[in-house]
Amino acid sequence: MDKLKMMTVTISDYAQSMMSEWESELGAKGGVVKIELSRRFEELTADVISHTAFESCYKEGKQFLAYSTFLKVQILRFIYLPTKQNLKTWSLDNKVRNMLMDIIKSWLVNKDAAGYGNDFLGLMLEPCTPKHDESKPQLSIDEIIAECKTFFFAGHDTTSHLLSWTMFLLSTHPKWQEKLREEVVMECGGEVPTGDMLNKLKLFNMFLLETLRLYGPVAFIQRRAGANLDLGGITVPEGTILSIPIVTIHCDKEVWGEDADEFKPESFKNGVSKAAKHPNALLSFSNGPRSCIGQNFAMIEAKAVITMILQRFSFTLSPKYVHAPTDVITLHPMYGLPMILKSLREIFVHLDRGYFSSSLLYTRSVLFMSICSY
Ligand code: HEM
Repeated sequence: MDKLKMMTVTISDYAQSMMSEWESELGAKGGVVKIELSRRFEELTADVISHTAFESCYKEGKQFLAYSTFLKVQILRFIYLPTKQNLKTWSLDNKVRNMLMDIIKSWLVNKDAAGYGNDFLGLMLEPCTPKHDESKPQLSIDEIIAECKTFFFAGHDTTSHLLSWTMFLLSTHPKWQEKLREEVVMECGGEVPTGDMLNKLKLFNMFLLETLRLYGPVAFIQRRAGANLDLGGITVPEGTILSIPIVTIHCDKEVWGEDADEFKPESFKNGVSKAAKHPNALLSFSNGPRSCIGQNFAMIEAKAVITMILQRFSFTLSPKYVHAPTDVITLHPMYGLPMILKSLREIFVHLDRGYFSSSLLYTRSVLFMSICSY
């Protein structure tokens, strides 16, 4: 968690530069602008995962993403035929593989002097490299490369869609948008949020969990039965593939109550395990030993980015938005998320040039909330 908290700085740096672009667009268009957010969030989470996973070789990290994007499209196509796209993918795969092998080898040589660094690749290499009495690494280079690909693919699209769905729900539930902005103002003021500040955002946490329940980016997962099982009275033979329809389970009235279809973040006020009839009913990050390894990272990233947006903008859904959640590996808004944004910064420049930064924070928060409500 300490290393994750340090990554909050990288996340907020990228979020800041994304919003600076929005602010210049706003400036050019008289204070109100329509922006297609899902594309922007994809770029943002690509930058964040490339930087946090490959801090020491950021450019190469981006190449990995290009690779995983090809991989994603490919799953639906013929993967062994020498099509133009396959040739491109294979060549990119080769390039990325060679590059990674060079990085890994150079780290193995220099690790005593330079250490492994704090990025994901460094964290993964550390326990995987040979101990003094062993001649071979615990994971082969091929395995490390495969893990890197998984990290990029698993950590990029998912988080960007979580950002999109959270913004969608905030815009369609303006009372909640206000409530969360109030909480953000109370806990973070106008400052760049730190890991500790984000931990205090209780309402926000409930809101994100509810977003994950209704619009979790991973809509279903699969498991293979490792032995013959009895599952609620049904015999499942060893080797059977079980599909677990997360979205359907998340709307099951027997588990979540009669209002399971409604948006109700309050159900999480006593924690995830008390939100439904079963303590493990929320499956957005799966459960058990193969559950999502990046869930804390995803939650920190979503909280940091949306907190910064709430501090700077109010927003409503564009009338051009078409509601079509589509599940192609991950659940995303098929026609994007056009949003109308209005700057809140101007209000503060007039109130106080210090923008939240003095001890009169409380007075300013109250003024801020009244203006937002108005
Ligand atoms: C909202 C964001 C995310 C969601 C909804 C999500 C969801 C999931 C789910 C449901 C699984 C289990 C898949 C299965 O069992 O078939 C999983 C696995 C995994 N996730 Fe995530 N994930 C998210 C973000 C991330 C991030 C940010 C990272 C990396 C930084 C990440 C890395 C992984 C990895 C490596 C696995 C495989 C774990 C294993 O097999 O042991 N995920 N994720």
